[in-house]
Amino acid sequence: MPGQPPAICDYEGSSYRTDFWEGKGREYEDAVERIALRALLPPAGQRYVEFGAGFGRLINEAGRYDQVVLVDYSRTLLAEAQARLGRSERYLYVAADVYNLPFVTNAFDVAIMCRVIHHLADVPAALRQIRASLTPGATFILEFANKRNLKAIARYLLGRQDWNPFAPEPVEFVKLNFDFHPAYIQQALQAAGFVPGPRRNVSMLRLGLFKTVLPLGAMLALERLIQPTGSLLPISPSIFVRNGVSGSRGQVVARESLFKCPACGSADLEQDGDVLVCRTNAERWAIRDGIYDFKEPLSA
Ligand SMILES: C[S@@+](CC[C@H](N)C(=O)[O-])C[C@H]1O[C@@H](n2cnc3c(N)ncnc32)[C@H](O)[C@@H]1O
Repeated sequence: MPGQPPAICDYEGSSYRTDFWEGKGREYEDAVERIALRALLPPAGQRYVEFGAGFGRLINEAGRYDQVVLVDYSRTLLAEAQARLGRSERYLYVAADVYNLPFVTNAFDVAIMCRVIHHLADVPAALRQIRASLTPGATFILEFANKRNLKAIARYLLGRQDWNPFAPEPVEFVKLNFDFHPAYIQQALQAAGFVPGPRRNVSMLRLGLFKTVLPLGAMLALERLIQPTGSLLPISPSIFVRNGVSGSRGQVVARESLFKCPACGSADLEQDGDVLVCRTNAERWAIRDGIYDFKEPLSA
């Protein structure tokens, strides 16, 4: 409906970590995402953010950065991340909606988003929000689920799948689960002000057969050879793309100036105990157990 905010795939209270990852035979998927990230991430940076960080599965890939911010809509997944990583000056936990981010411009010089955009019904809106939080010269690494992958093409040609993997529009195969055409993502990134760069074909061997016959080490060796082909022909189920922001790399804002009020956009926030108060519209945002909560303001 026009004017309605996009629906959110809500992971609050979910057991995503134990349901999907731990002991679920996805060592290959986890490892290949790290291979892609290590190949694409810049060697150093000031403030790193992961949008939709969940329980912080991939956050140890941010080791080279001075400060690390985990953003997610799910407070409970952030609490799981915090339980593992601890409270410190290095890690900041922020419950927020990627459609309405609480960060000023020049907040981050490195950003990633992995396994999240496939839940987003309004990709352009989310990419604009992310772009607005970055410095000139920043890097943004995006993972997306590719509708034009080999398996989808084969199924379509054999008449086993009704949607066309070559059509540019996203396909919602389950509610709030989308696959995207690489050209659609490229266009959306450019429209949001990014300069898309190298892509990697990730998880090409994500098939039960390969997992049965090949040891993990052999799969990863093959994966390392395959991934760089994504720039030429993105055809794997998961694609990683590194995007630049034009300009020479700028300085991120000081930690104290990081947030803005997501309700009115004012950066004039003052901390009062465990509450951030917006001095423009008087909205109050809680800091609970070390997690900044910008999902909704405290009632007056
Ligand atoms: C499939 S999980 C991936 C988590 C993590 N990126 C990983 O790869 O392990 C999707 C995550 O996106 C988050 N998410 C979905 N919609 C969101 C939104 N609108 N704003 C912020 N986070 C969102 C969910 O809460 C969930 O943690």
